[in-house]
Amino acid sequence: MKLEEFARQLRRRSEVVFFTGAGISTESGVPDFRSPGGIWTRYAPVYYDEFVSSEAARIRYWKMKRETHELYKNVRPNVGHYSIAAFEQRGQLLGLITQNVDGLHTLAGVSPERVVELHGTDRKVSCLSCEKEFDPGPIYARLREGVMPAPCDACGGLLKPATVSFGQSMPVAAMKRAQEWSEAAGVFIVVGSSLVVQPAATFPVIAKQNGALLAIVNRDPTPLDAMADYNFRGAIGEFFTLLNPLLSDG
Ligand code: APR
Repeated sequence: MKLEEFARQLRRRSEVVFFTGAGISTESGVPDFRSPGGIWTRYAPVYYDEFVSSEAARIRYWKMKRETHELYKNVRPNVGHYSIAAFEQRGQLLGLITQNVDGLHTLAGVSPERVVELHGTDRKVSCLSCEKEFDPGPIYARLREGVMPAPCDACGGLLKPATVSFGQSMPVAAMKRAQEWSEAAGVFIVVGSSLVVQPAATFPVIAKQNGALLAIVNRDPTPLDAMADYNFRGAIGEFFTLLNPLLSDG
């Protein structure tokens, strides 16, 4: 299918679901995970059990988080984030399922009730035992001086950014919403994900199995390309720059 045909079909649909990965934020200066220079090419992931049981693992983990937290102070959404927000403004967005923890989709104006953050958010820190939330600012300021986060002042539990680590259970409500949107999607558009992490990568398959038109916009090949109705192999900024003019009537 050509871009013009995809745009013609997309223009008429109102139950569009976007599914994004770290690739949509690289043009804002946030590194993804698996491209050259990505997070997992520079840090080894800290699994949830390691984080809970080992002080050395927690030190390693917070060092990695400090790098991205510094970034978040200045990063701004890019044309990809704003283009998705425009779908909501046109009344076409059924929902946005993101694996990203950078909060750039809501910063670009997508209503929070339209966003599901499957892997949580780096914009909050909470206690693993009582779930009390803490302002990340002072915690990262002390980390810059080499001071690790103190135990929770309410229950003595461990503090952790509110993201989902490997081996940590997925957020139940978020998974339920993502499942509902994937089953109801008329068009399901993957943007900037390598589609190698489960269970997140099952949602495009669920959408396709329930009759959605499936599109994949990504620089590198993904395991689901063969089942997509439309593939754009290139930069996300370029994709939306080509697509957006084709969506406006006239
Ligand atoms: N334009 C198009 N595609 C891009 C761009 C860009 N500007 N930048 C990166 N990409 C593509 C890369 O080709 C890559 O396939 O985005 C994809 C990003 O893949 P990953 O780095 O694997 O990120 P993601 O798919 O979001 O990872 C899923 O893995 O470690 C976990 O929790 C983490 O949420 C993350 C999950």
